[in-house]
Amino acid sequence: MSLKLSHRSQVEPFRALAILNEVAQRRAAGENIISLAPGQPCFGAPAPVLEKARQCITDDPIQGYTAAIGMLPLRERIARHYADQYGAQINYERIAITTASSAGFVIGLMSAFEAGDTIALTTPTYPAYKNILHALDINIVEIPTRAEHNYQPTAELLEQSGLKFDGLIITNPANPTGAMIGEGTLKNICGWCDNHDVRLISDEAYHGITYEEPAQTVLKFTDNALVLNTFSKYFALTGWRLGWAVLPENMIARVTALAENLMVSPPTLSQHIALEVMDHTSALDKYVAHYKKNRDILRERLPQIGLNNLSSAQGAFYFYIDAHNLTNNSEEFCRRMLDEARVAITPGNDFDSARGKTTLRISYAGSQADMIEACDRLTRWLA
Ligand SMILES: Cc1ncc(COP(=O)(O)O)c(C=O)c1O
Repeated sequence: MSLKLSHRSQVEPFRALAILNEVAQRRAAGENIISLAPGQPCFGAPAPVLEKARQCITDDPIQGYTAAIGMLPLRERIARHYADQYGAQINYERIAITTASSAGFVIGLMSAFEAGDTIALTTPTYPAYKNILHALDINIVEIPTRAEHNYQPTAELLEQSGLKFDGLIITNPANPTGAMIGEGTLKNICGWCDNHDVRLISDEAYHGITYEEPAQTVLKFTDNALVLNTFSKYFALTGWRLGWAVLPENMIARVTALAENLMVSPPTLSQHIALEVMDHTSALDKYVAHYKKNRDILRERLPQIGLNNLSSAQGAFYFYIDAHNLTNNSEEFCRRMLDEARVAITPGNDFDSARGKTTLRISYAGSQADMIEACDRLTRWLA
């Protein structure tokens, strides 16, 4: 008997995660591999936050469900964060706590789009977007961006594409490039979307991890966007699986009912420690200073070994590299690098199926010793 599987579940594997699994297996077998592949902080929560977690378990060993869109104090605290950080007044009722931003995407997209609608992505892009959209039967159009555009869209680029779409996903700062959208451009994109009845979906997962200018939220320029954020990156609560969505007013009831039915509750202990971690920004800012140092080491060393065309890396913890001078098969190049130099990085085809054969992504979220050792190994390998 051969029972069918759904078309919608036929999505591409997440190559970056496959690399992480392979590195873990090879390390367990005794290989000394430096990995510049993971998209997660090398730090855990600051010590007082972990102490708070222990205290929470002692005080409340039951740790039952919370409201499906999260604990009120955390929603109110996030609303205050928007006022403090961006000067944006957001009613806490618009904030839904989610099981990290990944679940926020699923229920947010389900509440705003039908199967058969079309959403535009700019490439290179965070690969899970395409796969979530495919699983929801939402059509995708891709708008390629170039290094000359800082790999980010502008309202002009959207207009010139001539494409019709119901939604647009932007990521600022972006994975895989670390590129940011300036305030004026962001405002114009918001205006363009509102004028064209396009629902803007703004992934603000890397806010807080910026090196020159702070990132701006689209909430300053429009009330119609769906904003996703997470405690996985700046707040370093990666495996605690918590994030939030800021919803347009007309999505609140829909998202609440979907969350009640699909998720029941975000993780309770994680919500308590998220509330705590928001008061430890001076420790978290030290993590950002660490990433910046790593970025500066790589920015100096990579061009010396032929990796010249680096993305702007204004935020997040990634360089996207145009390596056409070294390879036209990034997957094979990364495979050889892993086997011969014992350095793991991510091939570009994960982020851009059309042009990623000549591009690479390097994450600098790891230790400084790893950055230096990886550069030493690659210098020998590419010599
Ligand atoms: C741009 C972007 N958005 C969303 C996510 C998902 O993060 P999480 O589900 O941990 O919130 C990631 C993870 O790497 C990411 O890079």
